[in-house]
Amino acid sequence: MKIIKISNNSEAGKVVSDLILEEVKSNSNIVLGLATGSSPITTYENIIVKSKEQNIDWSKVTTFNLDEYKGLAPDHSQSYRYFMNNKLFNHINIDSKNTFVPSGMIETNQEAQKYDELIAQKGGIDLQLLGLGINGHVGFNEPGSEFEGLTSVVKLTKSTIEANARFFDNEKDVPTQAISMGLKSIMNAKKIILIATGEAKAEAVKNLVEGPVSKNWPCSILLNHKDVTVVIDHEAAKLLK
Ligand code: GLP
Repeated sequence: MKIIKISNNSEAGKVVSDLILEEVKSNSNIVLGLATGSSPITTYENIIVKSKEQNIDWSKVTTFNLDEYKGLAPDHSQSYRYFMNNKLFNHINIDSKNTFVPSGMIETNQEAQKYDELIAQKGGIDLQLLGLGINGHVGFNEPGSEFEGLTSVVKLTKSTIEANARFFDNEKDVPTQAISMGLKSIMNAKKIILIATGEAKAEAVKNLVEGPVSKNWPCSILLNHKDVTVVIDHEAAKLLK
């Protein structure tokens, strides 16, 4: 696991956007795994600016997002599809047909696993971007999730609902379930970059970097992956030995 220490999320955006754009420049057919949440926003902002400046071609790039809230339609202002269109896709020359976000209308795990089949059909994810939940979740794989899990309908924990309530008018509006790529779907990516900034992530970062690998901290499974880069600020790193 490679660790890059930066001073804040704005610097994370500069560093991670460069890492992603280098990959896109060297492989115009790349398959990217993308994340939502506040952590990757500065990365997407930098990608938009640099793609214009450097004339980077996204027309053959394919993207798969990690997760979507169950029950939210793509045009719902808190859906992850809406987030991705607004924060990234509408501002680069990506073909919308090549951007995939799990449907919030999926009801069964059988339907959900078609997402993994689609990822495999497209050749698998070359580079997966991740954020980190306060409780160590990646995607919406909450503590206790199976390491072998594929895309499925998942139940959100109370702490995740509380953490994400800031994006909704009312905590009661936060969906209690989501469709999320599983830990195995994530581990199948060839390369992974995770962004974690701020003190609230410190305990999860400690478990991610120092282990032990345990279902109590889903992020700790990344210790078993051979190409993970973790981009953290001093606050998120403060419990590390
Ligand atoms: C959300 C998302 C995750 C994200 C995490 C952290 O619940 N499902 O994919 O990484 O929480 O969010 P943030 O970056 O806003 O701290």
